[in-house]
Parts: sequence; C-alpha cells; structure tokens
Amino acid sequence: MDCNTEITCIFSLENIHFHYERDGNIRKVLQGVDLALLPEQHIGFYGPNGSGKTTLFRCITGLITPQQGCVRFHGREMRTEKDFHSLRCAVGFVLQHAEDQLFFPSVLEDVAFGPLNLGLSPEAARERAYETLRNLGLDGFENRLTHRLSGGEKKLVSLAAVLAMRPEALLLDEPTNGLDNEARERIIDILQKLPTARITISHDWDFLARVSTTYLTLAHGRLDGCAPSFSHTHAHAHPLGDEPHAH
Ligand SMILES: Nc1ncnc2c1ncn2[C@@H]1O[C@H](COP(=O)(O)OP(=O)(O)OP(=O)(O)O)[C@@H](O)[C@H]1O
Ligand SMILES: [Mg+2]
Repeated sequence: MDCNTEITCIFSLENIHFHYERDGNIRKVLQGVDLALLPEQHIGFYGPNGSGKTTLFRCITGLITPQQGCVRFHGREMRTEKDFHSLRCAVGFVLQHAEDQLFFPSVLEDVAFGPLNLGLSPEAARERAYETLRNLGLDGFENRLTHRLSGGEKKLVSLAAVLAMRPEALLLDEPTNGLDNEARERIIDILQKLPTARITISHDWDFLARVSTTYLTLAHGRLDGCAPSFSHTHAHAHPLGDEPHAH
C-alpha cells in the first residue's frame, strides 16, 4: 500500500522481509509485507501460530530490524533507534505476555512509567495513571503488587500501562488470551469505545469481529485481506446433560 508523504497513514510498511537466523539456520518469517494503518482504522489480524504476527509488530516498533524494506511513521522513514523511540511513544504495543510489559513492584509505578517517559511531571504521571486505571474499571489497583496479580489482571494492567501514554495507535497482541469471560467483555467494551487506530492480533474470531472493521491474515510470510465474517465451531455442555461436545 502506498503511503508516501501525504501523512494520511499513521505508519506504513513497505516490502518488509524478515528472517531469524540461529546456528546458520535461517527461518524466513516475513516475505514482502506491505501494510498501512490509517487514523481510526481498526484492523483485526489473525494467522496460524508461528506465522509471524508478533514478529511483524516487533518490526513495526523497531525492536527487530528487517533485512529488507522500510517502516514509515507519518510518511517519514524510520532509520535510527531515536526514530523508533519517537514511533514507540505514539504507537503503543501491548505485548503478548503481560509479564514482559510489567517490571515495577507496584501497579501505579508500571502505569505511570509511560507518561513519565513522555516527559510528564511525577505528579501529572501519577494523576494520568489513576485516571487510566479508573477508566478501565481498575480503581483500587494502584497499590497492588504487580507480581501478585493474576494472569488476567496483569493483562488489564498492561493495557492500562499503554493507554496511559494516550497513544495515537495501538498494537494489541492477543489481548484477551487467558482472560475469563467478564474480563474479555470488559476489554471488548473498552476497545469498542476507543477510536484509537489499532491492529489487534487474536485467535478469538468472535472477539476480533466485535472490535475490528477490517481484517488481515498472515500466511506464508505475506499479508492477505479477508472477509469479516467467520464461521466457527465451539464446544459446550448442556445444563443437565452430556459431555462437552462441538458443533
Ligand atoms: N528470537 C527468535 N529466534 C528464532 N526464531 C524465532 C524467534 N522468535 C520467533 N521465532 C520463530 O519465528 C516464527 C514466527 O514467530 P512469531 O512469534 O512471530 O509467531 P506468531 O504468529 O506471533 O505466533 P503465535 O500465534 O503462536 O503467537 C516462529 O516459527 C517462531 O518459532
Ligand atoms: Mg505471537
């Protein structure tokens, strides 16, 4: 997709090729990926395990460097770590594993860290953290110890840590993975009310359909568009009845 200098897209990727190399073995993951994210666009992104979805997010945010192709932010090519730092201040990346996102003893410190990094004063960062937690229905979490949170609570706090930066765009890597239905519904509600442009990775098609307007899939190292309707199977148990089974 062409996203030259008009700055219509927030970021774009052009012909991205990426492979991992270990002990002389090359694993080609991305093989000519073009992508652009427009303001207020909500892309649902799915693909098989190991197809390269997380790798793509890491390329966008400069955590790894593609062997070929370029990443642009508002039309400008990102070349240096300083460039990618500025991109990461505006494009929030909610990591697949919340443990990788949270590294302070308390929730308040974790959520205030991003705003502090953006240059807010400690008081303003604290206020921003309180406000973000409140907006996510996480009042009272401020003084909880991060390492004692449940897996689902960590997921919600890592979303708060990113939203506290008021990002222009969001990259969400399996945000509902491991959440119970109530927490999953809470994330759906938050995302449905959030105009922020985003790409959401998930294997949960029902979730993706509720929070996205366009869809992409990744297969054999390339992106493909796909229709927003999914057929799916599900397993359930009848109230008085049989073993859980699938239709
Ligand atoms: N640091 C690494 N070194 C070598 N290979 C890696 C590395 N990280 C990922 N890979 C490989 O690259 C491929 C793509 O991994 P990636 O994590 O991007 O997949 P994914 O689509 O996010 O999968 P999932 O749905 O399971 O999260 C996988 O085969 C994985 O084993
Ligand atoms: Mg992944």
